Amino acid sequence: MNVTDGVEDSMTPEMAVAAASAIHPMISIMEVSGGIQDRVCKLGTARTGKAQGFYYEKEARLIREAVGQDIILTGTGGFRTQEHIEAQLKPQGVLDMVAPGRPFLRNPSWLCDLEDSGAPSKCINCNGCFRWFAAPETSARGTCIVREKLRALGKE
Ligand SMILES: Cc1cc2nc3c(=O)[nH]c(=O)nc-3n(C[C@H](O)[C@H](O)[C@H](O)COP(=O)(O)O)c2cc1C
Ligand code: SF4
Repeated sequence: MNVTDGVEDSMTPEMAVAAASAIHPMISIMEVSGGIQDRVCKLGTARTGKAQGFYYEKEARLIREAVGQDIILTGTGGFRTQEHIEAQLKPQGVLDMVAPGRPFLRNPSWLCDLEDSGAPSKCINCNGCFRWFAAPETSARGTCIVREKLRALGKE
């Protein structure tokens, strides 16, 4: 469920709650997310910058209030540490599951590292992994350019 785009006259949390209320009897799982990140949409799900932690906590709580406990609620955007995850999972939070994205591009073994040592993700939110959209002929969709460069330098 896209809960916001950060664009005037576009999706609002109120609209998202209304849509979630309407469809929840017909579904079993819903992901709380946001619009696609670009120059216009500043509150998209794959944000650049230093903001860390689930981007849509407030909206997820509103949706949970509206849909009750019948459906599995998951969320995406901003999870980088064990603390970020635990804060949003029940019972502290309202989510049943979380769905980090770029941390697994940066390091496909991140979950193991998190379990072993509690290591936070090294993703720097540069969105270099989106370059495929600008140059699809590279077939590099979803490749972490930071990881690639560090590997080329023998540093990772
Ligand atoms: C390279 C790339 C491609 C993505 N493609 C999609 C997509 O096709 N559909 C979608 O709903 N989200 C897509 N996403 C968004 C992710 O699923 C995720 O919501 C987003 O990266 C925010 O989570 P994160 O901060 O943990 O990365 C993509 C993200 C990346 C980095
Ligand atoms: S290119 Fe790598 S470091 Fe940059 S946002 Fe994508 S996964 Fe994170």
